[in-house]
Amino acid sequence: MNIDELRNKVEREISSLKTFEDLKRVKASLLGRKGVFSEYLDTLKLLDKDQKRIFGKEINSLKALTEVRLQELEALYFDDEKRKQDTLSRIDITMPGKVPILGKKHPITQTFEEIIRIFTSLGFSVAEGPDIEPEYYNFEALNIPKDHPARDMQDTFYVKPGIVLRTHTSPVQIRTMESQLPPVKIIAPGSVYRCDNDISHTPMFHQVEGLLVDKRVRFSDLKGILSIFIHEIFGANTPLRFRPSYFPFTEPSAEVDIGCVICEGDGCRVCKETGWLEILGSGMVHPQVLRNVGYDPEEVTGFAFGMGVERIAMLKFGIDDIRQFYYNDIRFLSQF
Ligand code: DAH
Repeated sequence: MNIDELRNKVEREISSLKTFEDLKRVKASLLGRKGVFSEYLDTLKLLDKDQKRIFGKEINSLKALTEVRLQELEALYFDDEKRKQDTLSRIDITMPGKVPILGKKHPITQTFEEIIRIFTSLGFSVAEGPDIEPEYYNFEALNIPKDHPARDMQDTFYVKPGIVLRTHTSPVQIRTMESQLPPVKIIAPGSVYRCDNDISHTPMFHQVEGLLVDKRVRFSDLKGILSIFIHEIFGANTPLRFRPSYFPFTEPSAEVDIGCVICEGDGCRVCKETGWLEILGSGMVHPQVLRNVGYDPEEVTGFAFGMGVERIAMLKFGIDDIRQFYYNDIRFLSQF
């Protein structure tokens, strides 16, 4: 048995290795189960007892030395690569992937889209106007006189004298009629602002306005369109009623109530024991409003309506506190 030959071989192999791959290969070829050292140790069997002891000792100490040297090399030059490879070999490609958390549309957005879908299917197009308006568009043009309570500082946010955050989407009626001749058939979704904050009011909320002006538009057209809308959004069996009311920009005016979706008419806290819930304001466009935009009330008539989107979303989804819409709590929003 030639121990020098083994020593030379180990020396040659180790001094020629350059890469981490070399190191792994050399380690296997020397120390592996079928490596050079096991080969040598196997042949010990053929020797007599004394020789077995002498050579065995030499081979084992050379083997231990080789192990230490390879470990040192690895630690010194290939530590990073080893860590990388260890990590890679620990990645289990059969593991199920992480499912990303998908966002959802805000319930107010969903409600807007539903309202828009229904009215566009009835032939209305979508119009928009600015959130900041001259008082003229928010009030005067809509026949709301200077001393009307809606112009009280408590309700209206003034940006500066004469300029307000719109308190309703009705100014879009004026802007649309100013920019086109009849027929007009629009809805106007958007944000509105009022100085109010409690369980049923937020300083910013949303409305959808509607306006139809044409030759010979009648109150029955208003009733027809709003009935279709309500049956579409709250279900075909929802009872509704038109209740006389007052708005400066419509004459006659009506508020529309639906049968309470909570108690179905029996009377409860939500409907204040009346069995009815008010959901929108409406009416025939006041002749003065038509005149204000240069239309001739002898030639054309129209109807208008305005609804609160939060209110509709609360009734549709069974939400009892309007402020929930604006806390941005994912646990709340993801329920809808
Ligand atoms: N602008 C009213 C409000 O904010 C709602 C409204 C009522 C709009 C009657 C209309 C209407 O167009 O005809 O309270």
